[in-house]
Amino acid sequence: MDDIDHLMSVMEDAFDPAFGEAWTRRQIEDALVIGNCHYLLIAPDGRVILPGAAEPHDCLEIAGFALSRQGYDEEELLLFAVRPKYRRLGYGRRMLDAVFSQARKHGSKRMLLEMREGNPAGLLYVSCGFEAIGERRDYYRTRDGNRLNGITFARELEGDS
Ligand SMILES: CC(C)(COP(=O)(O)OP(=O)(O)OC[C@H]1O[C@@H](n2cnc3c(N)ncnc32)[C@H](O)[C@@H]1OP(=O)(O)O)[C@@H](O)C(=O)NCCC(=O)NCCS
Repeated sequence: MDDIDHLMSVMEDAFDPAFGEAWTRRQIEDALVIGNCHYLLIAPDGRVILPGAAEPHDCLEIAGFALSRQGYDEEELLLFAVRPKYRRLGYGRRMLDAVFSQARKHGSKRMLLEMREGNPAGLLYVSCGFEAIGERRDYYRTRDGNRLNGITFARELEGDS
């Protein structure tokens, strides 16, 4: 399995199809080809794995991943997921810390993300220092046609490295 296979497999397991949030393989490949997108994986034992890592992980069942995109001095979290059976073990928080530290290395000063209103992930984001800075009305459309607002979260990256 290559890393994109791992991302696809986690997405299939982690995202509720009702919200249509999973990306296609093509979307992931296109994002990674551009060069300003970054991802990391988390192993079942909680080790964060960066792309190109020496330790073999092709046979592991990856527990989760984060994908982000840098634009000037901001990094936007695009996809973030942990398989249900590995949740509430601190893996999401651990990945976010690693994303922050990678983003600082790439010169980013701020993290941004967009979340559908009501997603419990918001509790994790707030506990990791994000603040809700805006709302996009009816930004998401669910599989059954309902509209949900998007909440934009931001977190400064300077000052706590
Ligand atoms: C969001 C997600 C990545 C969190 O992963 P996780 O590994 O379970 O998160 P953590 O264990 O690091 O959570 C740390 C803290 O965040 C809060 N938190 C995380 N998930 C929560 C939930 N479902 N309900 C309430 N609080 C939650 C808790 O305070 C938790 O600490 P605790 O377990 O000691 O109470 C995971 O739930 C997921 O993959 N969800 C589906 C995909 C998704 O919605 N991604 C985000 C898109 S914006």
